[in-house]
Amino acid sequence: MHHQVALVATVAISFVLAAVFGYLADRLRLPALVGYLVAGIVIGPFTFGYAADSALASQLAEIGVILLMFGVGLHFSTSDLMAVRGVALPGAVFQIVLATLLGIGLCHLWGWKPEAGLVFGLSLSIASTVVLLKALGERNLIASANGRVAMGWLIVEDLAMVLALVLLPSIASLSGGGAASAAAHGPAAGGVWQVAIAIALTLVKVGGFALLAVALGPRLVPQLLTLVARTGSRELFTLTVLAIALGIAFGSAIVFGVSFALGAFFAGVVMSESHLSHRAAADSLPLQNAFSVLFFVSVGMLFDPSILIREPIAVVAVLALITCGKSLIALCLVLLLRYPLGMGLTVAAGLGQIGEFSFVLAGLGISLGILPQEGYDLILGGAILSIALNPLLFEIAEWAKKKIRSRWPSSMRLGATNLAALQQRLEVINARNEEREERQQLKKQQLVKTFPLFSGIDDHALDQLLLLFQPMSASPGDRIVRVGERGDAMYFVASGAVEVLLEKGTIRLEAGSFFGEMALLTGTPRTADVVAIDFCQLLRLDRRDFNIFMSHHPRLRAVVSDMARDRRQMNR
Ligand code: CMP
Repeated sequence: MHHQVALVATVAISFVLAAVFGYLADRLRLPALVGYLVAGIVIGPFTFGYAADSALASQLAEIGVILLMFGVGLHFSTSDLMAVRGVALPGAVFQIVLATLLGIGLCHLWGWKPEAGLVFGLSLSIASTVVLLKALGERNLIASANGRVAMGWLIVEDLAMVLALVLLPSIASLSGGGAASAAAHGPAAGGVWQVAIAIALTLVKVGGFALLAVALGPRLVPQLLTLVARTGSRELFTLTVLAIALGIAFGSAIVFGVSFALGAFFAGVVMSESHLSHRAAADSLPLQNAFSVLFFVSVGMLFDPSILIREPIAVVAVLALITCGKSLIALCLVLLLRYPLGMGLTVAAGLGQIGEFSFVLAGLGISLGILPQEGYDLILGGAILSIALNPLLFEIAEWAKKKIRSRWPSSMRLGATNLAALQQRLEVINARNEEREERQQLKKQQLVKTFPLFSGIDDHALDQLLLLFQPMSASPGDRIVRVGERGDAMYFVASGAVEVLLEKGTIRLEAGSFFGEMALLTGTPRTADVVAIDFCQLLRLDRRDFNIFMSHHPRLRAVVSDMARDRRQMNR
């Protein structure tokens, strides 16, 4: 393949094959993502025929992870995380510890070194956000209490992995690790201190980043979005959303050493504070979908199917650890924390897979010389198989829920009080979000009701108008517009009444009407005085905003121009 077009070829062929295999998978009643994985295997370097550029594909997949984590952040506020912390925090921490121990045990059986076991175990302990989000989304569970607990659980896991990624080099050098780690990170002397300092430094960095994101973000980001939304350009708005997501993800990775994914998650959280967040979410969704497909294709590409023949028993053991071991641990933890079985089953099914973070960890293990290549292949094998089997896990969970409900109905009541309390907390958050959404909706409805003139324009434009309008009040006698002056704004009467003072007499304008448009349309001085004759609420539209808005809405401009023409004729 010509080097210059490697990127184009990788993207094009990935999309084409993912579409074909995704469709075939659907026809076979399999989830589409199995098709995407197969597409990846087909164009991967380990199968015959064309091999796409796997390094490029994994970078594209990284963009997919960034966009997805950004989406998670947009829907998942810090208050959500606080609401589910009672179960998500201890659950995730204990699950990581137990699953890692199982991994270490498995490696011990194979005669690997303990540090290899540690990397291997950690890699198996963390689930993929991309897969979980897809699974929850397909089952309409993202907004449910169970879904939010699973997401919160995963975010805690992600945070723990950031720490693990930073600590691995120190641990490698502490244990004397492989040659690569010793060369790169110095001798083992003073190792414990080294690890302690690395932990402290990481915590300071991540804390600093979180603080900055929480302190500055909610002030800067919504303002920036509002500023751009006022231009009325959808393209510019979408671009800004993406620039913020990718910019924060990349910048935070460089400056604070946190992962791209975590940076993007915080970008989403920060943006969720803005009342324009629903538009940001809608705008970034198509890209999220496209790049998440590339994520699955690139996972497929990394997979060497020969491992299934070389090490069938090891693959089965790894797969059993991921799908059965981890799921059972999660289920038991949820029950021990006194939450219901239904939640335990959903969380267990959702987290019974591994993905992006596992590859990153395993890759680091290889480069530090503490994980054998075989371990990497097994992790990839485990990932692809567990991702493909994940839908089945959800079906088993659903089946088990039904069976248990019919056999032991009383068992479903276990943990009901905790669940009720959790649901109540989540409902408060929901209500707050809905209220914000409703308030905006109500404002738009009122706008259209008061000014039928706006009934033809779309929701997006109404949002923009609400941003552009500057509310102002006027008392009886206030002269709002002076004849002969330069026109700097147009006014809409929301309530009260004004009078236009013409030579021929006066004209009363009430709520729903507008004035000041003539000078803006023609560039000539004001044709009359306009005076408030009642207490008025007015919406002022600045000249610059008027020009931009009208240029995007020619039909509205025509209506206003017609009215201006009629008024001019009347005044002659
Ligand atoms: P403008 O010329 O910018 O400033 C004075 C405003 O008075 C003018 O725009 C119109 O909006 C309004 N106006 C002028 N003539 C009439 C009319 N005959 N009927 C209603 N409003 C008018």
